[in-house]
Amino acid sequence: MKLLVIGSGGREHALVWKLAQSQHATKMWCAPGNPGIALERLAKNQSAVECVHIGAENLPGLLAFALENKPDLTVVGPDNPLALGIVDSFQENGLRIWGPNKRAAQFEYSKVFSQEFMEKYGIPTARAGTFSDPMLAKEFAASLEGRCAVKADGLALGKGVVVCTNVAAADAAIDDMLLNKAFGAAGATIVIQEFLEGMEISLHALCDGKTAKLFPTSQDHKRIFEDDQGPNTGGMGAYSPTPFLNETELAEVGRQVLYPWLKGCAAEGIDFRGILYPGIMLTKSGPKVIEFNARFGDPEAQIYLTRLENDLVEVLNASVDGTLDQVDLRWKPGAAVCVVMASGGYPASSTKGKVISGLEESARLPNTKIFHAGTASVDGNIVTNGGRVLGVTSWAEDLAKARDAAYAAVAKIEFDGAQFRRDIAAKALA
Ligand code: AMP
Ligand code: GLY
Repeated sequence: MKLLVIGSGGREHALVWKLAQSQHATKMWCAPGNPGIALERLAKNQSAVECVHIGAENLPGLLAFALENKPDLTVVGPDNPLALGIVDSFQENGLRIWGPNKRAAQFEYSKVFSQEFMEKYGIPTARAGTFSDPMLAKEFAASLEGRCAVKADGLALGKGVVVCTNVAAADAAIDDMLLNKAFGAAGATIVIQEFLEGMEISLHALCDGKTAKLFPTSQDHKRIFEDDQGPNTGGMGAYSPTPFLNETELAEVGRQVLYPWLKGCAAEGIDFRGILYPGIMLTKSGPKVIEFNARFGDPEAQIYLTRLENDLVEVLNASVDGTLDQVDLRWKPGAAVCVVMASGGYPASSTKGKVISGLEESARLPNTKIFHAGTASVDGNIVTNGGRVLGVTSWAEDLAKARDAAYAAVAKIEFDGAQFRRDIAAKALA
């Protein structure tokens, strides 16, 4: 099969790496890809993955490329093209594509839609309200004593959520979104959720419109600094599985979240084929969904795809074709850990063009894969080219060994200003 992967981050490198191992893959393109992706070879015929210079949000460009080159399957990594309707557009043109269509992707790009859906179908979530009037929003925030999360309805580059602990902070966040239009149209309506306390974990479920197959648990580390300090980032590292839910408890959370979600989708005629990624807070009164994403997490994809034993082409085909009930997902026993190495200045800014050394040496370590995210190739060097630069990922028979292996690889890699957290998976190992 000829495959086209869309995106350029660490998640997409992990998708390409795993798809390249499939005996079904005979040709692969990635738009726009990155220098790490360009080094991948297909297991079947050793052909190189070809990076094509078309941005992930350039829908007309991607469609024209696909109509000309006729991939048998297109795999979408990031949320933006899904929100723009790439799946609908490809399908209207007779092209097979994996990912939720525009209506189904609303679970990610509209927090109002998700919140109302959860309430309508009894999915455990935070107490919340939806507002476009600042006065009413402030009244609700005051009723929560300002302990709340203020969320712009639409996509806001991961910056549209402000977690508040007092009324002044909540009022400021409400004014920022509703009056000052800090996120433009994306913030014209907001959701305010009560503040939920607990351990936050990531769930992923692969869906085919009727069936949802739950993955093992994982945990991201969103803050830039150790001990969960400093501003939020795209994610500084992740591991799987977490010790915070055993298999019985995970199955129970799946029952509480996915059963009503599938029922709601059926009732509303929403045909969701792709990854549903609920962010979950494990609170004293049970697990609660704080948000839905409609794609693989980044860096969660890096750990899930290094643990997955199935042929990914077969698994994604089943998701597209509605035959997931016939698939058993198999996971390597043990654990995987991904440590993100970021540029100096991230997340506020990022320094670019710093030469990265130690990539070849670290790549020779066993059970370790260095996924590229923000890198570029300049004069024969791999240099930094974005906030999150690399996702250093290792797997082993237990979490401590996977963690140690990932940090051993990190220790071999250097670039000016490199930042990484030394406490990835520490909560689980404490
Ligand atoms: P979201 O994009 O909705 O996942 O929000 C970003 C981050 O804000 C989450 O990963 C949580 O750490 C935090 N957050 C969101 N909603 C809540 C909430 N209701 N209570 C506490 N923290 C929250
Ligand atoms: N891991 C955070 C995200 O992908 O949104």
